[in-house]
Amino acid sequence: MDKFVANLMSRMTLEEKIGQLNLPVMGEITTGEAQNSDVANKIRNGQVGGLFNLRGPEKVKEMQQIAVEESRMKIPLLFGLDVIHGYETVFPIPLALSCTWNMQAVERSAQIAAKEASADGICWAFSPMVDIARDPRWGRIAEGAGEDPYLGGQIAKAMVQGYQGVGDSAFTSNAQIMACVKHYALYGAAEAGRDYNTVDMSRIRMYNEYLYPYHAAVEAGVGSVMSSFNEIDGVPATANHWLMTDVLRDQWGFKGFVVTDYTAINEMVAHGIGDLQTVSARALKAGIDMDMVGEGFLTTLKKSLDEGKVTKADIDQACRLILEAKYKLGLFDNPYKFCDSERPKKDIYTPENRAVARKIASESFVLLKNDNNLLPLSKKGTIAVIGPLADARSNMVGTWSVASRPDVKSLVEGLKETAGDQVKINYAKGSNLTTDPVLEEHGAFGRLIGRDKRTEEELRNEALRVASQSDVVVAALGESAEFTGESSSRSDISIPDVQQRLLKELLKTGKPVVLVLFTGRPLTLTWENESVPAILNVWFGGSEAGLAIGDVLFGDVNPSGKLTTSFPRNVGQIPIYYNHKNTGRPLEKGQWFQKFRSNYLDVVNEPLYPFGYGLSYTSFTYSDIRLSVSDLTEKGELTAEVTVTNTGKRDGAEVVQLYIRDMVGSVTRPVKELKGFEKIFLKAGESKTVQFKITPEMLKFYNYDLQYVNEPGDFQVMIGGDSEQVKSATFALK
Ligand code: BGC
Repeated sequence: MDKFVANLMSRMTLEEKIGQLNLPVMGEITTGEAQNSDVANKIRNGQVGGLFNLRGPEKVKEMQQIAVEESRMKIPLLFGLDVIHGYETVFPIPLALSCTWNMQAVERSAQIAAKEASADGICWAFSPMVDIARDPRWGRIAEGAGEDPYLGGQIAKAMVQGYQGVGDSAFTSNAQIMACVKHYALYGAAEAGRDYNTVDMSRIRMYNEYLYPYHAAVEAGVGSVMSSFNEIDGVPATANHWLMTDVLRDQWGFKGFVVTDYTAINEMVAHGIGDLQTVSARALKAGIDMDMVGEGFLTTLKKSLDEGKVTKADIDQACRLILEAKYKLGLFDNPYKFCDSERPKKDIYTPENRAVARKIASESFVLLKNDNNLLPLSKKGTIAVIGPLADARSNMVGTWSVASRPDVKSLVEGLKETAGDQVKINYAKGSNLTTDPVLEEHGAFGRLIGRDKRTEEELRNEALRVASQSDVVVAALGESAEFTGESSSRSDISIPDVQQRLLKELLKTGKPVVLVLFTGRPLTLTWENESVPAILNVWFGGSEAGLAIGDVLFGDVNPSGKLTTSFPRNVGQIPIYYNHKNTGRPLEKGQWFQKFRSNYLDVVNEPLYPFGYGLSYTSFTYSDIRLSVSDLTEKGELTAEVTVTNTGKRDGAEVVQLYIRDMVGSVTRPVKELKGFEKIFLKAGESKTVQFKITPEMLKFYNYDLQYVNEPGDFQVMIGGDSEQVKSATFALK
């Protein structure tokens, strides 16, 4: 590769090298202010390194042909797309996917996404998104794996392996594509949960809490990295040399290329650090290789070189890294590797892929409440399915599903198919999504679920009539798909007004009510938790969600999802996360308010539903923890084990979670940190012993000087089915 690329570059002009750094958009989807014109001519002139948003092997081939037949250097293009949670076969939104805690499933979903996308000409996915988020107001919490670094890191690795393949087998077939970990870095820590907002964070917090998942993706061999929109230490990530070079390349050894986020270079003008020429030069100097959409590199780098603001070596390095990516993907061997027009019908949206998506979706749902075993429903009698999201096909797949099909099943359709012929299903819309049509439109982004012209009362009366003729009510309420995702922050994260009023009226009928909650973020459900007997959070489950929800509601699948982000009781508790510090004035356990302690006057400190939480149709008990030794030596290891028993009447899966607390450190340490987990399946009545190996390596952290160290002392180990309900034991690191 080195020789090949060096040889190629020795024959390239400066303009052609700069051309490789340019990534225009082509196609229907634009999210910013992008304007790329005359793309075909630019390809011909060697001014384009890759294209994104183009789909279909023929269309891709046509552009590739221009590059390899009509441009002087004949260098193939990269074709990128936001393949985020599947392709035409859509998997649950990433936040939901993380709630499976099933790394094989996560990897498999990325593998299928890669297979389908590559069949459609794509060789580069803008995924995984691994931004830690502790603020559910931020709409992009839907796109990541929640609040925990360790789990986020495991998922990052599984996704990268799924897209690219593992080790030497990566990129060996035309069903493997290059991943792009994003948004580097700290994008999820935007102040007040407002998208694109300022981030300000200590280095020690970055290293211990936020950077780990990006680093895990790099260790898994991710081919590319996307810079984030936000600033870090007062310098936008896209111009931040410390971030892009010192950390990413020098400390972590990243060998791939860095692409900006959409117009992230141009946006640095608004950030206020210079004009387009200045910010483009700063981006290149910082370690950015490819300019997404903005054409700042294309239009200013030559001038900056002439003026000594960048060097030839800076441009060469970026160009080399992009050519290497093309080489690794095999595009120099065969530029049409991903242009087989026979593949789409063979590989995309196949029954096999959809069956996997259905199974994974059913594993991602989180049962939040289930009084008196109201769920599962029996496959007999009459069910009223009510709510603005009950029969909304376009709403099922969730945000960032650019390749999804219009014909996915709605919940009503899914339930009809899974219920069998002994069940009658009656539907009523019940209400619009919100009272406010403007809000509804803001949260639609091309997926309007349609407003009903009837009055609130008319819709409600119809719903109450339908409810009164049924044995049970399934209320399909929550957010529409684009209420989360990019540029969809909310300051009020409750179920929208008119839907809550509907729910209250449905409860008054005295019929048992199951809330099937659609959402892309944690919502404040304090009232719902007190009032509704059963709540199944189904997030946005993808193209097979309708069927998967039926599978769970009727008990063909026992729910096993566990939350990966805390659900606050109200917005005032935000940011709220399980792995917080203790403070000098912690509240005593089980207390609400104590004067001069760290707490609120009007709400308890704990979230409504904690990290790791999720119910099942069966129940599990945990034995006490057995430790193999009580002292861990520098080179040693210890085993912590528990026996978990399924004490209920149904088979089911449980996510056994290992947390550790470092009792004393040279810096303050979190009250607990996830350090391991295992998802086990237990038949009714069955017991299994789960063992976790604990090594000194797992106890390391970044100290005040940002050295990654072990500090001897006492540790508490906790094991349980969520972050609050745990058994505990202690050991010492000698
Ligand atoms: C988003 C990225 C996405 C890119 C390309 C940006 O607005 O932040 O996540 O990959 O657009 O569509």
